[in-house]
Amino acid sequence: MAAMSRRLQQQGRRLGVVPTMGALHEGHLSLIRRAASQNDVVIVTIFVNPLQFGPREDFARYPRPLSRDLRLAQAAGADIVFAPSAAAIYPAGFQTSVEVGALSQGWEGRARPGHFRGVATVVTLLVHLTQPTNVYVGQKDYQQALIITRLLHDLRVPCRVRVRPTVREPDGLAMSSRNVFLTPRQRRQALILSRSLRAARAAIRAGERRASRLLAAMRRRIRSEPDVRLDGAAIVDAATLEPQQVLRGRVALLVAARVGRTRLIDNLLVDVS
Ligand code: PAF
Repeated sequence: MAAMSRRLQQQGRRLGVVPTMGALHEGHLSLIRRAASQNDVVIVTIFVNPLQFGPREDFARYPRPLSRDLRLAQAAGADIVFAPSAAAIYPAGFQTSVEVGALSQGWEGRARPGHFRGVATVVTLLVHLTQPTNVYVGQKDYQQALIITRLLHDLRVPCRVRVRPTVREPDGLAMSSRNVFLTPRQRRQALILSRSLRAARAAIRAGERRASRLLAAMRRRIRSEPDVRLDGAAIVDAATLEPQQVLRGRVALLVAARVGRTRLIDNLLVDVS
């Protein structure tokens, strides 16, 4: 992969890279299509990264439909799919990790210790191997998108990170590879995440600026669904992820919840006038 991307770079080709863990859905495919429209070559990486899963998380059961993914990636415009083995990425003796500071500490970083170290380490490796001109990530993993942007900026990697909007099902559920785990009943109840975010956004647009009020309403809504266990709700500055008391500027509304055994996250960005 490294030799191939070096050769393509030397030929002056623009390389668009879409890092994924596979189980591709419309959210990934929209990133691939976007990459195809802005680059000469599109590389999709598929790697279920063991370093970013905690010991009690779903690494073993994470879906890995590789041949379906290859078909979908190609149809969406991928030229190369890089799907390395864990031994190729982390050979015996591997002991380096990459960590982004403050942005990794709050929110998902607190709920999933070590998760963003795993993400930052693998993204550094993948970018090193694929030499992108542009890297495409989804807004659905909002904190991750900020961390990847910060990481590549801080390490002076000469590429641009393009954060693309969350793709949703027609009823509002944010697309996620983990949605396949939901039973039909859980799938219906999971809608409370996007609904609570939209209700908070409507309240902000109607003039509410107190984060405590907005969060209380979000929590109440989410707890009204019997199979949904709220893991956290926050309203933070969209650039720094610092919690806000009185809303100003661009804010991110964040939620995380378990629906049955499946952990889902969602967010909305709101410009507070
Ligand atoms: O968002 C994901 O799929 C993963 O966290 C990423 C960025 C591919 C790193 O493993």
